[in-house]
Amino acid sequence: MRVGVVGGGLMGAGIAETVARAGHDVRIHEPIAAARAPSLARITASTERALAAGKLEAQEQRALLERIVYVDELAQLADRELVIEAVVEDRAVKLDYFRRLERHVCADALLASNTSSIPIAELAAAVSTPERVLGLHFFSPAPVMRLVEVVAALDTSEQTLATARRFVESLDKTVVMSKDRAGFVVNLLLVPYLVAAVRMLEEGFATREDIDAAMALGCGHPMGPLTLCDFIGLDVVSAVCDSLFEEFKRAEYAAPPLLSRMTSAGRLGRKSGRGFYTYQATR
Ligand code: CAA
Repeated sequence: MRVGVVGGGLMGAGIAETVARAGHDVRIHEPIAAARAPSLARITASTERALAAGKLEAQEQRALLERIVYVDELAQLADRELVIEAVVEDRAVKLDYFRRLERHVCADALLASNTSSIPIAELAAAVSTPERVLGLHFFSPAPVMRLVEVVAALDTSEQTLATARRFVESLDKTVVMSKDRAGFVVNLLLVPYLVAAVRMLEEGFATREDIDAAMALGCGHPMGPLTLCDFIGLDVVSAVCDSLFEEFKRAEYAAPPLLSRMTSAGRLGRKSGRGFYTYQATR
């Protein structure tokens, strides 16, 4: 399939790597020239890890990287059969991209968003053919996590969903179908757990290390909740809280003050070098 990815950040780069690895031809629209080199470096480093772990052959790595091309104009996505939007989690920015994408990509291309907090129906309303709009929600790190949530909005067609399912399966990932409700399946379960850990820290219930060790060792999670918040990004966790609270009006979904203050202060986790913990380098 000819696939476009809009945005070359953490998720966009991870999605592009995953898609190219499955043999699809990928164009990444990254309009900020200075962001392209770090984006490609992220993909290269990730494939190096896969190579070192014996998950990828050197020849496959070269072929994967050759299938990825960065473009700066949306018009260069004109021949794409599927475009996955993975820009910053900001409603206005995403809506603007959907309006512009409609003008540039062919009329039967599927338009997907990787949003974790914005209703797909709202993005679909920005285009005149909402039946081709859906959510394709990947998890971080996209090349490693085995799930993609496929989100059907009110007007998403059965044909769009069937094509999306085949596409996700071609990536060797498992599909979970979700209604277009804030949080979808995973974040509606995960985020209340993460914010409960933040509240626990805020209330002095236990130290950050003990909260994380408790869940990593006691429940076999790969990382504790505060480390996971840092990994996801506190701004993203906060945005998901806001959308859950807005949708369901339940107090347990509201962002705790500590999370809001850390987000306002720019302590966003790994990507900013500091969150609940301090980091030397981002990955
Ligand atoms: N391609 C394929 N495989 C790769 C790879 C790549 N580019 N890079 C790494 N891998 C493999 C490694 O070989 C390794 O495989 P094995 O387990 O078979 O050895 C595995 O992926 C883990 O990689 P690393 O060894 O580099 O890293 P790690 O062991 O320290 O694990 C982690 C890191 C995968 C992030 C792990 O800590 C983890 O799973 N954490 C939880 C992540 C999580 O919960 N993500 C979801 C967040 S929620 C979200 O994203 C949604 C949202 O909307 C907020």
